[in-house]
Amino acid sequence: MDDLVRTHHDGPVDGAAAAALADRGLRLTRVPNDDRPGFGSWLDAVARGFLDGERSDLHRAAAFERLGQRRLIGVFDDSAPEPTVPVGTFASWVSELTVPGGTSIPSCAISSVTVAPTHHRRGIARAMMEGELRAADALGVPVAVLTVSESTLYGRYGFASAAAAVSLRIETRRAGWTGPAAPGRVDFISRERWRELAPQVHERGRTRRAGEIEMPGGHWDRLARTRPDAEDPGKVRAVQYAGLDGDVTGVAVYSVEENHDDFTKSIAHVHLLLAGDDDAYAGLWRFFLQLDLIGEVRASELSLDEPLLWMIADQRAAVITVRDHQYVRVLDVPAALTARRYGAAGVFALDVADPLGIGGGRWVLRVDADGAGAVSPWEGDAPEGAVRVQLGTAELSALYLGGVSAAALATAGRLRASDVVALARTFAWHESPRLSFWY
Ligand SMILES: CC(C)(COP(=O)(O)OP(=O)(O)OC[C@H]1O[C@@H](n2cnc3c(N)ncnc32)[C@H](O)[C@@H]1OP(=O)(O)O)[C@@H](O)C(=O)NCCC(=O)NCCS
Repeated sequence: MDDLVRTHHDGPVDGAAAAALADRGLRLTRVPNDDRPGFGSWLDAVARGFLDGERSDLHRAAAFERLGQRRLIGVFDDSAPEPTVPVGTFASWVSELTVPGGTSIPSCAISSVTVAPTHHRRGIARAMMEGELRAADALGVPVAVLTVSESTLYGRYGFASAAAAVSLRIETRRAGWTGPAAPGRVDFISRERWRELAPQVHERGRTRRAGEIEMPGGHWDRLARTRPDAEDPGKVRAVQYAGLDGDVTGVAVYSVEENHDDFTKSIAHVHLLLAGDDDAYAGLWRFFLQLDLIGEVRASELSLDEPLLWMIADQRAAVITVRDHQYVRVLDVPAALTARRYGAAGVFALDVADPLGIGGGRWVLRVDADGAGAVSPWEGDAPEGAVRVQLGTAELSALYLGGVSAAALATAGRLRASDVVALARTFAWHESPRLSFWY
């Protein structure tokens, strides 16, 4: 894994993408992580793309420390009045993605995709995305992942939302806690202490839920507001849950929005709650639902099967919003399908159409009674008794973490299968996938 992280970070840009952009007078290049002025210009372009204000020296310095491990790409227009500020930006890094069964595979995590509005809709984003996906595939990274600003952007490249995110707004007085009483204790801790503890607690839980990737290092300081450029750091409160043996198995950060007309209707925003075991989960959620003066608790990036909804007396106390969240794009079908476990045995002849010609083809997936899968090329006739499946890379990617039923995709006209029920049973998983943050 370490080697892949390094080779991916240091690898050259894709020649075909560079040539396509050069034909339009544009230069595609890597932005070295140690080039402070170059990094500052790249960051300015990203901030502008995401509607943020100008970056200050403080912002630049903080981001420079934080993004050191990412592979940064820029597209430059040397004829522009500010030629050092890229008109296209893209960042990626190799991160472990947890797949059904509790194992993880290397994924190419993508972020900071922007194109200046002065240069948009000329194929710059497409050239960067296609080039970087080809580069990741060439190095043997089996899947790519990203979270999106708009749902309509990435299906064309073979991505699909594979783990939805649930947001909850819970009316605390109506909800009524009916969950277990955790035996341990909840205590306030400093944000700095939270910053130290949270990565360890996250590591304990990350491989228990399909869809999670490693938390990018800089996110911890952003959540704890321990970065030098953090706005209103004092607004964030940090708590921990410790079991009877004193071991800290849960942490959370939150902030409060006061209601000046009626203090008892103030709102608590839970920014992140990490629980390494069931006691920590119950202990911390109970703490939030029973906070004094709080009429509503809001939390997001939760899972579709969030146990919290079964720990309150009145489920209609919760307003639930579901959104597409963790997008996955399978690059290497055999490597990806062999890595995960499955819900039921079966033999499937998969005909996968890849819009970018990266990972498509015909494959036989054999899943044994223990849920382990083996993939071989499908040559000639389909094996006797195999379920024949025709689908695109986006549909395979949507199924990959068990976040949607193959039956739903078949009804939606997104795939065809000679036995949809068998396909749905095999690709199903007993827990909804989740990704607890944005990147
Ligand atoms: C989204 C963004 C990167 C697109 O860049 P771009 O260079 O204009 O995109 P391209 O010209 O390469 O277009 C590629 C394809 O996406 C489509 N597309 C571009 N922007 C789109 C949008 N906002 N909604 C739907 N489709 C869009 C194009 O029509 C084109 O389709 P096609 O190639 O299948 O015909 C750019 O508009 C941007 O920076 N937006 C603000 C920041 C942002 O939201 N970034 C995405 C973060 S996840």
